Amino acid sequence: MMQRKGHPKSELGNKAHTPAPMTISTARTLSLAECTRMLQGSDPWATLGYGESHFRAIAKNSCHSTNAKVTIRRKVIAFTSFKFGFMRGAYMSLLAVDPDYRHTGVGSALMDYAEKLIFLRTKNVFLCVASFNEGAQEFFKRRGYRPVGVLHRLIVDEYDEILFRKCGEDH
Ligand SMILES: CC(C)(COP(=O)(O)OP(=O)(O)OC[C@H]1O[C@@H](n2cnc3c(N)ncnc32)[C@H](O)[C@@H]1OP(=O)(O)O)[C@@H](O)C(=O)NCCC(=O)NCCS
Repeated sequence: MMQRKGHPKSELGNKAHTPAPMTISTARTLSLAECTRMLQGSDPWATLGYGESHFRAIAKNSCHSTNAKVTIRRKVIAFTSFKFGFMRGAYMSLLAVDPDYRHTGVGSALMDYAEKLIFLRTKNVFLCVASFNEGAQEFFKRRGYRPVGVLHRLIVDEYDEILFRKCGEDH
């Protein structure tokens, strides 16, 4: 299992306290409790109408994906899920950071970790972002993802999903 240790940026800035170590590692599954705690009531899932049955399906199907989690003192504060074998690349179906830890570099650290795993094996990463989720679109654009298509009204009638692609080097 590949494991990386670090600290969220904000905790590093506060040297008066012992900084909490952040660990990133792969995980065989995502639990229903983790999915519910991280996704329930949080956008984009709230606006897209995700509920108990969706979280149950995500947790159940996670054993067929590669999952990576960020933990602090054994508490999961972020996770991602992706699958190989999608259009000469991997499809990342999930990326979530606990709202209390957003904008502290956790999402970037997790994406660095996931992309490293993905680009060892394949040359593209694909993912979808809801058309209303402009913050996440900005986050991925800054990381080199480019919009390559619009999937009109894929999940709900009110919004589209934008397909993003990032190409690895040396493939
Ligand atoms: C999108 C998400 C994964 C980013 O994770 P994060 O830990 O907050 O991101 P980081 O702290 O590593 O941010 C790195 C940079 O990305 C950009 N960024 C991140 N979130 C942003 C937002 N909401 N709006 C604009 N830019 C954003 C900024 O440039 C940021 O740098 P800064 O904090 O110095 O301004 C996180 O906000 C999240 O879980 N959102 C809800 C779920 C989601 O949208 N998932 C992705 C699509 S399904």
